[in-house]
Amino acid sequence: MSQVTRRDFIAAAAALGATPVWAGTKRARSQVPPSNERRDLYPEGVASGDPQPDSVLLWTRRPFDTGTDSRLIVEIAEDDAFKQVIASTSATVSAAADWTCRVLAGNLKPATVYWYRFTDDTGFTSRVGRTLTAPAPDDPRPVKFAFISCQNANDGAQNAYRRMIFEDERAPEADRLGFVLHLGDFIYEIVWYPEDRPQGMYDRRIRDLVRYAHGEKVEDFHIPTTVDDYRAVYRAYLHDPDLQDARARFPFVPMWDNHEFSWQGWQSLQVFDGTTRPQQTRKVAAMQAWFEFQPARVRKASGPGLDRFDPPKVVNAPIVKFDAQGLGQEPNNLTALGSLTGYRAMRWGRHVELIITDQRSYRSEDPTTRAEAQDLTTKDFPEMLPQEALEILDAGRLYNGRKPPDTIPFGDKEIPNFRKNEPPQTILGATQKAWFLNRLKTSTATWKVWGNTTGTLDHRVDPKNLPPGLTKPWPGAGFAGFSSGDHGNAYIERAEIYSFVRGEGITGFATIAGDRHSFWAGLAAETLPPKAFEPVGVAYIVGSISAPGMVEALEHKFPKDHPLRALYLAQPPGATKPRPTINMLLRHGVRSCLEYQKSGDADRARILSNKDLAPHLAFLDMGGHGYATVRASADAWECEFVCIPRPIERSTRHDGGPLLYRVVHRTPLWEKGERPEIEQRVVEGNPALSL
Ligand SMILES: [Fe+2]
Repeated sequence: MSQVTRRDFIAAAAALGATPVWAGTKRARSQVPPSNERRDLYPEGVASGDPQPDSVLLWTRRPFDTGTDSRLIVEIAEDDAFKQVIASTSATVSAAADWTCRVLAGNLKPATVYWYRFTDDTGFTSRVGRTLTAPAPDDPRPVKFAFISCQNANDGAQNAYRRMIFEDERAPEADRLGFVLHLGDFIYEIVWYPEDRPQGMYDRRIRDLVRYAHGEKVEDFHIPTTVDDYRAVYRAYLHDPDLQDARARFPFVPMWDNHEFSWQGWQSLQVFDGTTRPQQTRKVAAMQAWFEFQPARVRKASGPGLDRFDPPKVVNAPIVKFDAQGLGQEPNNLTALGSLTGYRAMRWGRHVELIITDQRSYRSEDPTTRAEAQDLTTKDFPEMLPQEALEILDAGRLYNGRKPPDTIPFGDKEIPNFRKNEPPQTILGATQKAWFLNRLKTSTATWKVWGNTTGTLDHRVDPKNLPPGLTKPWPGAGFAGFSSGDHGNAYIERAEIYSFVRGEGITGFATIAGDRHSFWAGLAAETLPPKAFEPVGVAYIVGSISAPGMVEALEHKFPKDHPLRALYLAQPPGATKPRPTINMLLRHGVRSCLEYQKSGDADRARILSNKDLAPHLAFLDMGGHGYATVRASADAWECEFVCIPRPIERSTRHDGGPLLYRVVHRTPLWEKGERPEIEQRVVEGNPALSL
């Protein structure tokens, strides 16, 4: 028996903008003949999201050619033949919500598979969806789930989903996925039309995916400008058969990253051609389309309303005043950001509390993207900035006990410290951070899982160790970092969070992230050598489903005659194509890369590993695609990376195509005051330079 009363449930559904349906005790056979399925009438399929022990959100889209609204019947059954229907109700679909439909099914049993479908007023049904509820909070069984990010249907194929479905269908019941956490870049709002790039994108051809009815052309691509444009790109993505099948099989837990609004966007600002421009109307449009297409327990500002978002009215007004947390105080900015609140926490059984945060809506400006920061980079050392400069830029006026320097040395130059009088960088913003820390502290789950759409692990290089004569001397004082625009460079805020974890004696702290288009396994630590290395948790980043990664970009763009090419792409004697030494560079350092270039022997190269460079990393693949799964139990955290070949074209195989490798990282649950440790096991294939 559910602890939630029917009345509470109806109120909860209304707050989420969903039609409630309460499962009864009676079972009845569906009156709709199975032959009535018409997938073409529901072209974006069905989906479910944000399961809890007693409820789950159901979704579809049923467009009508005429009229402003219509009714759908939703049925929820215990079997896929709909002989045991336990609930049904009718829900409105309206043109005002692009004919999308959200239903919250309640009074369900925990950890149970259900089947659902929609029927329109002509008797035609959607495809059948499968979903499952979360286990009850006292359920001691391990929780298994997947986390993914970054699917690009404009230039890639979604083979990773086919592989995920294939494996899940064949897995024993206890090993099946309970949900799929999508950490954003569900769409890429930047769209190339085939004629914009006849040369394609890196290894890929451009698909004629969507044409924006309004839109704006920037450089050689197009961006959405209205809610209709954002909707169009969601619809186009959902016509992908592998993505659509995945949404019909698994409950998703979705969260947006940057591309759901704008590539280099932050708050309601867009940045193109080096110009930052206020786009409150587009931020609201992006949030509206997200709300309409993603079944999630998110909070819209317009209040209860089951069938529409009701966007707040905003105008694009300059954002010039920022508070001490870097939040733009312009009223339309605050209204746009408040139009949809995505951060939230959910519980799966005894072992998993998933705390999801929004890294884009409240963040302050990334100082490394400022024009003034360009002077801290040099073509001699691609991607690298001095770590000390990254720290000065991050901390602003707090640097060095509130005594920031006036200038930052870079070789024989002194670069003005343009951050000297500014507040430290924040990615979460003050309100969300307070909420996040409180959730961490009060969680009683074994594993407190931070779903952070962006990475948290440092990327560092040791250019000081380059042999003399190869290139110019490194202009920094010590290590170099890459500017990541995430918690990998947000040292002050990351330290605040990690020291809170340590101070509160929180164990089982695990971060999972996307965005970097690469697989990373490692430990969460405030600082690296020569400072103390004291991990407080484990941290993972998943490779992209399909969006191109850094290795693919390097293969196409990195100058063939660059003196440091071997650090990024090596081609040892006898090798027919370049190998991604960038993986070795960030984990083992420059000496290993140079040895690999010379001998082509990865083991020999690893003997020269710089132990102080990356004690926080266990695994790194800057070119990997696929997905990750987690098995969280009373005594251990296990994360498996499933890596597929570059998804250039759709696989015709029912398993989604071959695997490159499968690697598992396991961490036994540690006690308060103990340090987490990672064990690595290559299960299949060869991750080569990633080890
Ligand atoms: Fe991405």
